Amino acid sequence: MSPGAHGINGVSLFSTNHMNPAFYHLLHVFALLVLTAHTYMAFANPDPENRKRTVMITGIASLLMLVSGFGLFAKIYHNQWAGWIVVKLFCWLGFTALGGIAYRKAHLRGLLSFLGLAILLIALVMVYLKPF
Ligand code: HEM
Repeated sequence: MSPGAHGINGVSLFSTNHMNPAFYHLLHVFALLVLTAHTYMAFANPDPENRKRTVMITGIASLLMLVSGFGLFAKIYHNQWAGWIVVKLFCWLGFTALGGIAYRKAHLRGLLSFLGLAILLIALVMVYLKPF
């Protein structure tokens, strides 16, 4: 049995022992694709009419990314903090904000879309190279 949260009689509300990490990986990357696609749709067409839908879809996708990210963190890294995961958290926060900003600062969307790519690249370097 892998180390995890063992509550009273081995039952814990927060136990992730029964979850296959592949499920979290799949959810993490799928939610990332949905979040990225809808964020860039907002950049391409920041029509205020679509704002509500974009904020809803990117909000749900972003939440699923965070939950699956922490699922992986618990499952693979047993909640051992490291620099790369902290940087990823900031990347997640920054990227999540971009969709909403696109509607309020539509004139900045060229810059925002470049910033989005830079954030994604940093997050990918963190997870694949884990420099610290
Ligand atoms: C913009 C933000 C993020 C991007 C682009 C991103 C992207 C990715 C990608 C592509 C993977 C690798 C999947 C694979 O190779 O199977 C991954 C894995 C992972 N992510 Fe994220 N992620 C982000 C945010 C987060 C957040 C906020 C957390 C944290 C709590 C997190 C925790 C993890 C963990 C623990 C793994 C597993 C690493 C491993 O298998 O060694 N990620 N992420």
